[in-house]
Amino acid sequence: MSHYTVEQFLADSRQTFQGKGVRAGLEEVRLKVEDLLENPRLLEDYVDMEAYAGHSVIGHDAETDVYVIVHGGRKGNKSSPHDHGPCSVIYGNYTGHTTMRRWKRLDDGGSEGAAQLELVKKYDVHAGEASAFAEGDIHSIEYPDGAYFVRVTIGDVEKQKTLRYDTDRGIVEIDDRSKN
Ligand SMILES: [Fe+2]
Repeated sequence: MSHYTVEQFLADSRQTFQGKGVRAGLEEVRLKVEDLLENPRLLEDYVDMEAYAGHSVIGHDAETDVYVIVHGGRKGNKSSPHDHGPCSVIYGNYTGHTTMRRWKRLDDGGSEGAAQLELVKKYDVHAGEASAFAEGDIHSIEYPDGAYFVRVTIGDVEKQKTLRYDTDRGIVEIDDRSKN
């Protein structure tokens, strides 16, 4: 039986995004991420496990600037709420689960200083499931030891200025990811 490959995924997502645009095509591509998560050889075919240190880019399409990145599989972690700058992203679990939280701003939406967030939704993303975040959506992730997940980004999030929230202190800060 043949498996859905990263190359097929990138070709399909290119067709969708070029045909419909990112926002209108995001749900269609989210379903394709779920197809990719069904590939039982994803790690062995695309990740050099000896060199793996917690994340690995396993695919990139130059035309649409879509990246496919494997994360996790080591110690669990928890992020603060953040957005992805101008990028849309899709998170899907390959193994284990991710506890996903979606947040919304209650204030005027400035980029630095006081910020108030409200939790909109908390849910678990299980193996084989993917969850999409459009430009501007705010989320945080929490995952246990050993959980591998795939992150698809439309654009290179790690070169962007994104917003990161500290809910205890009630503030938002610019996170210039190109300097991390
Ligand atoms: Fe994120």
